[in-house]
Amino acid sequence: MNKYVIQGGIPLVGEVEIGGAKNAALPILAASIMTDDTVYIDNMPDESDTNAMLQAIESIGAIVERTGRHSVKINASQVKDVTIDNDCIKKIRASYYLIGALLGKYKRARVVLPGGCNIGLRPIDQHIKGFTALGAEVNIEYGNIDAKADKLVGNHIYLDMPSVGATINIMMTAAMAEGKTIIENVAKEPHVVDFANFLNSMGANIKGAGTDVIRIKGVDKFHGTEYTIIPDQIEAGTFMMAAAATKGDITVKNVIPKHLESISAKLVEMGCQIQESDDEVRVVATKRLSHTHIKTLPYPGYPTDMQPQITVALGLATGISIVTESVFENRFKYVDELTKMGASIKVEGSTAIIEGVEKYTGASISAPDLRAGAALVIAGLSAEGFTTVEDIQYIERGYEDFEMKLKDLGAHIEKVDTDRELQKFKLKYA
Ligand code: EPZ
Repeated sequence: MNKYVIQGGIPLVGEVEIGGAKNAALPILAASIMTDDTVYIDNMPDESDTNAMLQAIESIGAIVERTGRHSVKINASQVKDVTIDNDCIKKIRASYYLIGALLGKYKRARVVLPGGCNIGLRPIDQHIKGFTALGAEVNIEYGNIDAKADKLVGNHIYLDMPSVGATINIMMTAAMAEGKTIIENVAKEPHVVDFANFLNSMGANIKGAGTDVIRIKGVDKFHGTEYTIIPDQIEAGTFMMAAAATKGDITVKNVIPKHLESISAKLVEMGCQIQESDDEVRVVATKRLSHTHIKTLPYPGYPTDMQPQITVALGLATGISIVTESVFENRFKYVDELTKMGASIKVEGSTAIIEGVEKYTGASISAPDLRAGAALVIAGLSAEGFTTVEDIQYIERGYEDFEMKLKDLGAHIEKVDTDRELQKFKLKYA
């Protein structure tokens, strides 16, 4: 099984090109089946989650043609089936977007229950509430979600919490329902706005994405489109945090600085210098980081998907930092692994109390999920000595060429498959 081996202690310096946003790409690829015309998607990240979504839509008859590593042409005029249960899709959370897409277009969907990172309970009651309010009958049976409707009719829906998935999923179905839908207390994440822009480019009538209320006028059908996905806020933030933790100097390129503001603001509090231009952010860390406190919140608050990365950086800061996770219940599992590297962190419920240490030391650790996995790689890069990170399949769900991009910034990191390769790496850098 592949793992990363890292020799840490080297400040990362240079420029890194950020790819398209995974969490925008996933619903966009799912919704591409809502038209019989051809859809062209650009700036698509080449990651295992997006590839699983493409396989899922192919499995029901969509014609998927890769026109480049980051571009794809999709034609779903030959879709014959509304049942999705192939093995790939079982592993990803975003399989739930296929319910919204199929239900909207075909008034029928049967999709295996979503998998994804184990970071909390992750119920989908708000999605189901929305589909039901639009007139669908939704049942969970034999491990599948089965949704059907004779007719979908717009409604007024109030979400209990601003769920990204529920906002996008309900938007998708409502865009093809009869009449008007108003969704209140919606998620405002950049990928929610990007998704609404994509659906509008196919002929939907959606207003208010990015605010608390989304208003939709249903249309009968969508048409083809050409669409470029926004840059990935979390990939960019991860490299920004790698600059901070390794006392480096990294410029993230092809980003929307506005989407990174909550991350940049925290890095400034921690003593980093931030320089922003139109589509770049440079992070320079020259001295030991200072402590700060963080609470994860829906956008525009500090993102939960950036919580493990900042905890790793704060583990090396002066003083005591407190990190409160308010979005998911179980997102501190990686702290045990970080402790093996010398971190001093106590987790009490949804709060981590971090007493900064002067350095981490290399250890053998495993990635428990996607973002925590990336955070542990950052820990390895800033640690003294060698670190191995196992279970990197989690990291590959959402970071394209992660180790290659880090190598270009000067990191000593390799993806290895055998003990021989591991020893070779260690000899090279001993
Ligand atoms: C999306 O998950 C992302 N995944 C997650 O990214 C991200 O962490 C999360 O949004 C928050 O930003 C994708 O886009 C595929 P939510 P999602 O619905 O949609 C509760 C990553 O690392 N909730 O916004 O599943 C839920 O339990 C991944 O890229 C309900 O109770 O998250 C959580 O506490 C990990 N009932 C909160 O709402 C529901 O019906 C927010 O979840 C839906 C959600």
